[in-house]
Amino acid sequence: MKIAVLPGDGIGKEVTAEAVKVLRALAGKGLAFEMIEAVIGDEGIQTVGDALPPKTLELCREVDAILLGGTGVPADEHRPPADGAGNGLLRLRRALSLYANFRPVVLYPELLDASTLKPEVVDGVDMVILRELNGDLYFGEPRGISVNAANEREGINTMRYTESEIERIAHVGFKTAQKRGRKLCSVDKSNVLETMMLWREVVTRVGRDYPDVELTHLYVDAASMALIRNPRQFDVIVTGNVFGDILSDAAAMLAGSIGMLPSASLGAGNKGLYEPVHGTAPDIAGRDIANPLAAILSAALMLRYSFSLEREAARIEVAVRSVLSAGYRTADIMRPGCRQVGTSEMGDAVVEALLAQTSRRAVG
Ligand code: IPM
Ligand code: MG
Repeated sequence: MKIAVLPGDGIGKEVTAEAVKVLRALAGKGLAFEMIEAVIGDEGIQTVGDALPPKTLELCREVDAILLGGTGVPADEHRPPADGAGNGLLRLRRALSLYANFRPVVLYPELLDASTLKPEVVDGVDMVILRELNGDLYFGEPRGISVNAANEREGINTMRYTESEIERIAHVGFKTAQKRGRKLCSVDKSNVLETMMLWREVVTRVGRDYPDVELTHLYVDAASMALIRNPRQFDVIVTGNVFGDILSDAAAMLAGSIGMLPSASLGAGNKGLYEPVHGTAPDIAGRDIANPLAAILSAALMLRYSFSLEREAARIEVAVRSVLSAGYRTADIMRPGCRQVGTSEMGDAVVEALLAQTSRRAVG
């Protein structure tokens, strides 16, 4: 199994190192991972002048899966988006046609009181936000800042979706719902935007092929409220690139911390890009305090989706839960009475929990 490891910027490096540690601990007995590291984001800009160096893209085309930390640095605020570190990631998602971004939002019972929301609201949250990743305002043309006829500068981005783009993500949404609670909520803004009118029409039409899935629609403003008010009503949410970006950060708080949220980006085949939902957090980078669990859980998604290693994926998830049960907490999820640990200590604890599973099995 060939994996490209792209730590990227900021805490991306620190959390990816922990995910790699966990994968190494899992290897052995017929399970071998070949992990090849490459640069992306600001590191790419600094080393070869490109946020997505051609060599990195080439490697990503060859491998079965990509494990990514994060891209983005404070300097991006003074760069045009096309020259920013984050654009390396956007180009990678698009170049590999990874259009289906799964962001599972699960509240581990151990973290019931880590959320800023009341425990009775978030207790039992278990949903998937399926974000379309290759279209929308992110990639629509025309775009740019130009001087208009009135001699004033003007910024333009274009919300754009073709029917086939909506269809393919809708199918993924319904199929995902079929494997879960059979409820799909499509989030749009069809009361205002034509692109989203088309979105709703196409999702509704695709839904006729899935009579066993209950389809509902929400406008994105209402959806953002519903997520906070009564999040348990959601099973699978399917939405566009921009709304998915925003809603998934909001939903992160349902799981206690954005440091808990993994993601998987898939296309037509088994190749996938796996990354924590959180960013590069420059403010805490290099201090060994970031939560590596989102990155570690992303590695679990990689085993499940790209390599069909369901048992091994579950082993990682069980190890994460047992570490939380034992009271280990990084700063973002710290509660009184728990044991605060740093990034690498948290990774070590997960590895230990994994190894304990093996020895228990050997004994039993
Ligand atoms: C995300 C991030 C990215 C996005 C950034 C880093 C470009 O916020 O994965 O949610 O906007 O997609
Ligand atoms: Mg985001």
